[in-house]
Amino acid sequence: MINLDLKGCSSFVNEKQFEDYTARALEALSILDSGTGAGSNFLGWNRLPSEITQEMLEDYLSVVDKWIEMEIDLVVVIGIGGSYLGAKAAIEALSHSFHQMGPSRGPKVVFAGHNLSEEYIAELMDMVSVKNVACVVISKSGTTTEPAVVFRLIKKYIEETYGIKEARKRIIAVTDKERGALRLLSNQEGYKTFVIEENIGGRFSVLTAVGLLPIALAGFDITEMVRGAVDMQRICSEPTKDNPAIRYAAMRNILYDNGKKIELLVGFNPKLHYLSEWWKQLFGESEGKDGKGIFPASVNFTTDLHSLGQYIQDGERILFETFIDVRTIRRKVEIGYDKQDLDGLNYLAGKNVEFCNKMAQQGTMFAHNDGGVPTMEISIDLLDEYNLGQLFYFFEKACGISAYILGVNPFDQPGVEDYKKNMFALLGKPGYERQSKELRKRL
Ligand code: PA5
Repeated sequence: MINLDLKGCSSFVNEKQFEDYTARALEALSILDSGTGAGSNFLGWNRLPSEITQEMLEDYLSVVDKWIEMEIDLVVVIGIGGSYLGAKAAIEALSHSFHQMGPSRGPKVVFAGHNLSEEYIAELMDMVSVKNVACVVISKSGTTTEPAVVFRLIKKYIEETYGIKEARKRIIAVTDKERGALRLLSNQEGYKTFVIEENIGGRFSVLTAVGLLPIALAGFDITEMVRGAVDMQRICSEPTKDNPAIRYAAMRNILYDNGKKIELLVGFNPKLHYLSEWWKQLFGESEGKDGKGIFPASVNFTTDLHSLGQYIQDGERILFETFIDVRTIRRKVEIGYDKQDLDGLNYLAGKNVEFCNKMAQQGTMFAHNDGGVPTMEISIDLLDEYNLGQLFYFFEKACGISAYILGVNPFDQPGVEDYKKNMFALLGKPGYERQSKELRKRL
């Protein structure tokens, strides 16, 4: 079970303040769970884990079986933002660090459509051309430019290589029930589709087909992931001050109001890198609006202690940190004894590398605390499907509560549209002629 330790905040926050914000968090939870707050038509994620049926999971797993049977060895998952980061986070967290180099039982899963780099896309096509390929295209709106550009290429390649009829077996779309270009195209081409419910926003969709299908295709246990999320759904719904989502949401709002404007999510395992990316989108898009919001950033230690450590220790005091602690690891690597001991490491002989990592983690927390950085610690037992399911739901719930304390609608993202309008105008999209003229004057 995940545990939230707030000891590292005690010298920055007084008890009265914590009590007040806990009361506000409990009120926010009640608003969230009763569906009476801003954006309440986007609460489909809130009770989702307990609504996932065996039948739904079997539907995802039937795709895995079918593609293994067809000897598919490369699945290109196309999507961006909330239609990409959850699956990427889980697959990176659960995979061997060098998984793309080694053998695998099922297909390799790679991601595309999350950038517009021509080089990336050309190199993707290099890989596609030597593999037995299938594709999952994910877009809730069905109109997002980045995935649409890549899908156009992959679709053409699959149709030309395997034929139109066979393409139907190799392309799956995850999109809205009725709306959008991808829905229209899927209906017309006869693709198998999975629906993203209207009341679930992209960044809250990891426990739908958006996340679960790619995670299952990469060979991971989605049943366990959902079990973890269900357990966390129960815990995070309890209207008590021990509820970890309440405590986390309360504390981060106190710190924000005390001038700590940036939260760093800290991992000590490179496998957590994309979990941080997912978390950044979740909190950044949900809270960063109306001139308010904690800026979510992330660091991978010990790596970044050698680049950003100086600032965190000693720079402007606007940061707080949330450490992700993984209590047990599956692998053991022992540091050996060396007769000469020229590197001076014999004092560590017989110790595991993870012992050093844990001591670095403790030492860093104390040092940053002493330097004026409040720290929280979220511990999980193991980096596995069950615990990731817990983390996903925990952060979603805490995010909803936290945004309501802050006083913003967690479920919209009006600011994302501005760059798109400019991009469309500069690309010459029909309907954007006036903006195009204006922007061209500024070039
Ligand atoms: O959270 C969000 O709403 C966004 O990040 C979207 O997920 C992202 O823009 C992709 O949108 P779509 O799934 O409609 O292609």
